[in-house]
Amino acid sequence: MAMETTLIILKPDAVQRGLMGTVLARFEAKGLTVVGGKFQMVPKALAEKHYAEHAGKPFYDGLIQFVTSSPVLVLAIRGVNAIAVCRTLIGATNGQKADPGTIRGDFGMSGGYNLIHGSDSPESAERELALWFNDGELVDYEPTRQAWVYDPSDL
Ligand code: RTP
Ligand code: MG
Repeated sequence: MAMETTLIILKPDAVQRGLMGTVLARFEAKGLTVVGGKFQMVPKALAEKHYAEHAGKPFYDGLIQFVTSSPVLVLAIRGVNAIAVCRTLIGATNGQKADPGTIRGDFGMSGGYNLIHGSDSPESAERELALWFNDGELVDYEPTRQAWVYDPSDL
């Protein structure tokens, strides 16, 4: 099993609804490690690069408008299989369909205003981390609690 780092964005609705702490707490409680973070407005060009795979789709213009409309909290989160584990914690794209217990399932009622982004594959994570973080902005460290999160055979 591989130690992975994934790109998580708490979107404008999560920030405006005061859910940053609640959502971040879920990742921390799971045993994942925050290795990078920044709170910012998203430049339009960055939003367009991030969501380039969706360019031309009917929801694309609204998506870019939404993510650039208000600040976001950008996080780099690390753990064994972190990319898939975070997608599971996040839940299905539309909050009305997402399973209870997931972030979108517990806090969301919308497909567009769906609170959070998580990289969907190792390739996406690599591309997105390079887009949102500069060299040296991710912090390599091992939290002391890690010894009690993983069985040594997991690592
Ligand atoms: P994200 O990239 O934001 O983590 O979300 P996701 O993987 O669950 O969904 P994705 O298919 O990558 O779509 C990106 C964002 O576009 C909006 N969307 N709207 N109306 C629609 O059919 C539709 N499909 C996607 C959502 O805001 C989604 O998060
Ligand atoms: Mg996606």
